[in-house]
Amino acid sequence: MSRTVIVGASAGVGRSIAERLAEDRHELFLIATDIADLTPQQKDLQLRFRTRVAVMAVDLRSFDATALRNEVFGQLGGIDNVVVVAGASDPQVDSGPIDPGFVRDLIEVNFLGAVDIVNAFLPDLATAPQGNLVGIGSVAGVRGRSNNMVYGAAKRGLETYFEACRHWLARQGGACVQFYRLGFVATSMTFGQSTPLPAASPEAIAERIAKNLGKDIGMCYLPNWWALVMTVLQFVPWFVFKRLNI
Ligand SMILES: NC(=O)c1ccc[n+]([C@@H]2O[C@H](COP(=O)([O-])OP(=O)(O)OC[C@H]3O[C@@H](n4cnc5c(N)ncnc54)[C@H](OP(=O)(O)O)[C@@H]3O)[C@@H](O)[C@H]2O)c1
Repeated sequence: MSRTVIVGASAGVGRSIAERLAEDRHELFLIATDIADLTPQQKDLQLRFRTRVAVMAVDLRSFDATALRNEVFGQLGGIDNVVVVAGASDPQVDSGPIDPGFVRDLIEVNFLGAVDIVNAFLPDLATAPQGNLVGIGSVAGVRGRSNNMVYGAAKRGLETYFEACRHWLARQGGACVQFYRLGFVATSMTFGQSTPLPAASPEAIAERIAKNLGKDIGMCYLPNWWALVMTVLQFVPWFVFKRLNI
């Protein structure tokens, strides 16, 4: 029986991962900001999959990671997998100079809060060779552009941190690390936006993430075909790239 913490579990990709792992009988500790979202989700998963589900309302912009880690241990008695999914963006606003409060929000949710959580669980993951540390990045972090400026920078920072965690955990004989650069996914984050390329379903993303548990894959794109798109985008010469409205 695997014990799994999911940060950002109440909606979109995180919600689908919670359901998919409940199906595999993981014992779950679900985190999001709103307990009113988490409690019905907890009841639903417990009823349908007959597995233990604990929940906790945490805002990544202000929380105590050590207290959170202790609560997880109190509820699950230990930990095998830490899955950090939570993220927030607003490409309409995150372009050029933006409100300094929003800069902080974007960095705290997409980078600092995620790092604080992983950092609190690192000693546990170091002694869990069958465990997994899973992180969610974005194609927005691959090449800086005028939309999603702070979000993209935070995701790139998060990816570097996960890469470093992979190196550290490998040297400890600890958990595997999987980090995903997601393309468009049909969730509330993209709701109402016309995406220039097709959006994947959160269920399909969750399926791949569940199947990759236990594999030391480092970084990969989801869906896979984004690898080709982003390789092309990275090699677009600057005199062309600067004209693109992306
Ligand atoms: N959707 C896309 O096209 C896309 C593309 C590339 C990368 N991604 C990345 O994929 C991940 C999942 O995105 P999604 O599309 O599933 O987003 P979503 O549907 O908006 O769900 C985001 C989840 O993160 C939680 N969250 C947000 N702010 C939080 C905070 N301050 N503290 C704690 N939890 C917080 C939300 O809980 P609350 O509702 O309680 O805040 C929710 O459970 C994110 O890291 C995102 O950056 C998404």
